[in-house]
Formats: sequence, structure tokens, C-alpha cells
Amino acid sequence: MNSNEVRSRFLKFFESRGHKIIPSVSLIPENDPSVLFNIAGMQPLMPYLLGREHPAGKRLASSQKCLRTIDLLDVGDNTHNTFFEMLGNWSFGDYFKKEAIKWSYEFLTDKKNGLGLDPKYLYVTVFGGNDVIPKDMESVEIWKSLGIGENRIYFKSSKSNWWSAGSNSPAGPSTEMFYDLTKKLGNMTQVEFEKAEDEQKVVEIWNDVFMAYKQENGKVVGELPNKNVDTGAGLERITAVVEGKQSIYDTDIFLPAIEMIKKNSKNYEEKSARIIADHLRSAMFLISDGVLPGNKDQGYILRRLIRRAVFKMKVLMLDSLVGTEIIDNFVDLYSGVYEELKKVNIRSVFRLEEEKFLKTLNEGMKEFEKGTDPFVLFTTYGFPIELTEELAEERGTMIDREEFDRKMAEHQKLSRTAGAGMFKGGLGGVGEIEIKYHTATHLLNAALRQVLGNQVMQKGSNITKERLRFDFSYPQKMTEVEKKKVEEIVNDKIAEKLPVSFMEMPKTEAEKIALHSFNEKYGDIVKVYFIGNEQSGYFSREFCGGPHVSNTGGLGHFKIIKEEAVSVGVRRIKAVLE
Ligand code: ALA
Repeated sequence: MNSNEVRSRFLKFFESRGHKIIPSVSLIPENDPSVLFNIAGMQPLMPYLLGREHPAGKRLASSQKCLRTIDLLDVGDNTHNTFFEMLGNWSFGDYFKKEAIKWSYEFLTDKKNGLGLDPKYLYVTVFGGNDVIPKDMESVEIWKSLGIGENRIYFKSSKSNWWSAGSNSPAGPSTEMFYDLTKKLGNMTQVEFEKAEDEQKVVEIWNDVFMAYKQENGKVVGELPNKNVDTGAGLERITAVVEGKQSIYDTDIFLPAIEMIKKNSKNYEEKSARIIADHLRSAMFLISDGVLPGNKDQGYILRRLIRRAVFKMKVLMLDSLVGTEIIDNFVDLYSGVYEELKKVNIRSVFRLEEEKFLKTLNEGMKEFEKGTDPFVLFTTYGFPIELTEELAEERGTMIDREEFDRKMAEHQKLSRTAGAGMFKGGLGGVGEIEIKYHTATHLLNAALRQVLGNQVMQKGSNITKERLRFDFSYPQKMTEVEKKKVEEIVNDKIAEKLPVSFMEMPKTEAEKIALHSFNEKYGDIVKVYFIGNEQSGYFSREFCGGPHVSNTGGLGHFKIIKEEAVSVGVRRIKAVLE
């Protein structure tokens, strides 16, 4: 049984127990600026755990893409990675502890419809109680009734057996399932069990959370309207167990990548190979969800992951082409499950970032060895500060992080001032309102194509502080209804607060995915502006030099004030943002 089989068995198992299967959402949370990434299957379900009715019903199951950077430095041991898939089933005020535990147990052990794991290698932990919530004796009784002996059930404090997504979140006690990877441990005392856990001999494979409480500022403030179930099982870990492997990196998910690295490396070392495989897989998923390497937020994490992988590839003396081969291998493994992987040119994004970094990597390393300031390594040689820190640690030294942060803050202040000046002067008086009109023009172009069809081609554009003007190919006058429809679409896209991003890519690639004007000449590398996110499909993709707003949210109300003919087959729209 491989990872794909584990995933589909899981979903089928819960589907046949009345659960609706919901697709994974993007790694980037929508409407939740408090986190950079979805870190659990329950994250996009938060409103429903808090009491809202879910349109698909009271029982759901999914395999959700997650990313946790908190484990970044543990990546490369047997059980940690950055990206992972979380298998989960939910009850919103429907079934509770008894069914949840019973089904977890059944799925793990049933030979026909589950994973057929031997129960004699299973252990469970249960919430041991605190000042507010009592010890979870009910779960203990359920486990016992299923045949898990008392000497395999351990009480744990709220440090490990209490779950919430941050300090303001639905929350509750949990019961966790563990598996003996060595198959030698037998009955253990609590102390022995905890030691085996530290040594990664037993590994946590599933967490059933009984979300019945509401937590605010880290404190339980009351009960939720419903008693909910939130479970999470890491697909990578469960697969390791099913395949009888000691490490997630030995499963069918990672093994081909690790083997490619081993075969091509002139200086092989296992932990670095695992880091490369993990980071490239995460980078692939991030790029397919519309993230581009950058200097803040998700973009920075992506940059860090790619650059750390590229750096480790250098250390292992791997040809840089191996990186793209590994990515291709992962795309093949997952594209049957995650459609978005087929839609974005992941290779180009990776290669561009790799090239940028490789250009300065050798020089940067020389500078690092000389003891050059981490700030210079970052600004001149593109070394993420965390990479410099890691290198320093390997050499037994330390860098002054505070000094770096201070210099960065100063640098950002300066570049903002310079940037503001440049907009006013250098770009020929492009002010804020003109930038807004520029983005509105892209929205209008895409909306016209939706309403009038793809024969609409941009013929010209002109922007002033007062209005935008857009010329396009179309044979007849637009009707009132068509104009209304176009306005509506543009205003909807403004209301949706869509992100605007760009990507530099080879012209030949860009031509396949983006609108461009045939009258203009472009270089070999072009900038493509995207409006929207990959998850729901980009609303607009156009060749363009920018600048644009970063989010359509602030554009105001879009209104067409004139539609007229310019020449035969070419129409002109004038529109304003109010
Ligand atoms: N939300 C729980 C977890 O992530 C299931 O472990």
C-alpha cells in the first residue's frame, strides 16, 4: 500500500460513514491574516467549529495541504517535514468521542477497508486534566473497550493533549495514537513510553481532538455551541508506518527523490538530501498555490526554502538540473490529486530563483568565510539571514541577530522613502491614483473578454489622474446590459480583494499563459501580472511592466462613463474609479 492508496482509503472509509469529502484548499489561508499558511486541516473550517452551519453537512473529511515552518530545523530527522498532508474527519455537533475513537481505531487496524495495522504496536495518550477541564476518563474507557490495555494508555497534560489553533480558537482535549516503528517495545511504563517518543521509536500518527470549548487569549472562556470532533493524521507518517519504514523519507513519497540525489551527488550525506527533498516539495506546492519568491511573508518563506535547498545541493555537489528533475517527480506523484500542480509553471519559478541565488552564492560563501556582515550577505548576496545563522552555527560561531534586525529596519525605512520619491519623479509622475487605474485596466480587459468573448484584444491604453481609457478590438457598439455586466464583474473583483502579484519568466513560457499586446516588443524575460489566486483560477494574467496595487481591495467603485468607436472594429471605453 503506497501513500496514494492510504489517502484514498482514508477518504473512502469516512465517506462510507456519512462524511462529505471536501477538497483541500490553498496553503494560503483566505480571510485569515493571522497565519501565513494553513497548519492543520481544521484551519479553513474554523467558522464551522465555532458554530456556523457548513453547507456540506455535519460530517466532513479531507486531505488538506499544510505547511509548518516551526519544524524547519527538525527537517531531516525521521518524522518532520515542512509541507505535509493532513488527513482529517470532522463532526460539527454530530458524533463525538465514541464514534471518533472507534473509527480511528477501525481505520488503523481493519484489514479490508483500513490500513490493517497490528494493534499490538499501538499506544494512546489521553488528556490528564487541569484546573478547568477534568481528566478524560470517557476516552480511556472507549480505548479499553476496543482492546487497548491500560498499560498502553498514558495521561498527558495540556502541553501535548490540548489542541487549539492559536490563542483565539475553538479548543479541546485530545487523544493521540502512536505506533511502535521498531515493533519491539511491548508494554511500557509512562517513563519508558516518553523516552521511546523522544527517540522517535514510537511516532504519533493521529490526533483526535474533542473541540467543545472556546478559547480567548489562551484561556478557556466557555463551551462552544456544539461538541465537535477535529482529527488529524499526517499522511507522510502514516505511510511510513504502513510501508514498515523507520522514516518518512524512506516512503514512496520521498524515496525516488532521495535516490536521485544519491545517484547524482559527489558528496552524499543523508540529512542534507532529506532537506533538499522536503524543501523542493514544499516549494512546488507553494508555487502552485500562487506564491512567488519575495522578501516578505509567504514569498520570503518560499525564497528561504528554495535557497536553503539550492545551498544544500551545492554542498552535496549536485548538478542544478537535479533540482528540477526532483520537482518534476513530485508533480507526477501529486498531480492526480492536486490539479493546481498542472496549471503553473513551477519549474520556471524555481529556476529563476535558483539562478538568482547561484549567481552570488560562491562569492557570498567567500564573504561569509571572511566574516562579512550578515546584512551585506543578505542585501548583496541574497543569503537569507536564517541560512547565515545556520552556517555560523555549523562553524561554532554566532551572529548578532539584533544588529541585523536593526539594520534591516533602517534599510526598509530608507528604501520606502527612496521608493516614494522615485514614483513621483522617475516614473513620469505615476501617482497612487494612476497605479490604481492601471490595475483597473487589467480588470476591465479581463471582464470585457468574459462578457464579449475572446476576440477582444487590447489596442491601446492611456491613463490620467482622472480616468482610464482603453481601446479594444470589437465590431459593434456595446449594449447597456453588456456595459452593466462589465462594470459588475470589475466591481465584484474589487470587492473580492484579490491579490495582485507578478512573476518574471521566459517570454516563450509567458506567451502560453498570459495576454499580451502584439504591437509591442518584449525582451526574453518578461513580467507577467496576475490578479487573483491560483486556487480559484487567476482572474487576469497579462504581460506588463507594472506598477500595480498589491490588492484590488482599495480601488474604489468602477464606472464606465463612455463607450464609443475609434475606428472600424475598434472601440474605446473611458472609465473612472469613484
Ligand atoms: N487539529 C488537530 C491537529 O492538527 C487535529 O493535530
